[in-house]
Amino acid sequence: MRRPLIAGNWKMNTTADEAINLVNDMLTELIGFTGVDCVLCPPFISLQSLSKLLKGTSIGLGAQNMYYKEKGAFTGEVSALMLKDLCRFVILGHSERRQYFCETDAAVNQKIKAALEAGLVPIFCVGESFEQNETGRTDEILSMQIKSGLSGIGATDQIIIAYEPIWAIGTGKAATGAQAGLAIGFIRETLCSIWEKTRANSIRILYGGSVTGTNITEFVKQPQIDGALVGGASIKAAEFISIVRQTALVKS
Ligand code: 13P
Repeated sequence: MRRPLIAGNWKMNTTADEAINLVNDMLTELIGFTGVDCVLCPPFISLQSLSKLLKGTSIGLGAQNMYYKEKGAFTGEVSALMLKDLCRFVILGHSERRQYFCETDAAVNQKIKAALEAGLVPIFCVGESFEQNETGRTDEILSMQIKSGLSGIGATDQIIIAYEPIWAIGTGKAATGAQAGLAIGFIRETLCSIWEKTRANSIRILYGGSVTGTNITEFVKQPQIDGALVGGASIKAAEFISIVRQTALVKS
């Protein structure tokens, strides 16, 4: 049995004070949902304060990126070594990083390796563009991203995968539950082709892209989908709580 997980990617939102207020607005409710793991991924600058605020609770904390080197002359970067005392999770390979910061599959692979070595749990994002989807290349792209991203990495359950079709991110045009279920089923088949089957079947795979309190059940009803990576709706306390509540209900 894979435990359902709802992660919030706050992206470049919330000042230090706003982040604390947002967590305070959600915390009491979130810790009440025992059947669902929750992970909050604020900007770097809030990791320290939120790690204190969430200490001793069941709510996980994650970063949104990191560099693969341990330390050194890499101005502006943050390493796994720096993150591991503050949080347990790190989002890697998000399409916004690939698109705006030129991250390649090879770079994502180096980051995943470094995160795992440091004991962090990567939330590894994959997904096709609108054109790739329209031209029937979704499976090809997903297979390539999964195989390159996990190249040289032995089977581990210390990784979470998020299927985020680029055309669904921030557009209000989510995939349908069936579409996401199919793509995630394909991702699982790909995992089974590179890793031992029981291990591949234990990996949690999330859907991300315009998830809201209104459409979450459509996704988590799919047996292949273990939860969601939520963007915009994760910085609205009531909406995020509603997403977690409905996931708990469907998956219980
Ligand atoms: P939205 O939920 O805002 O579409 O963002 C999804 C996402 O990119 C999560 O990582």
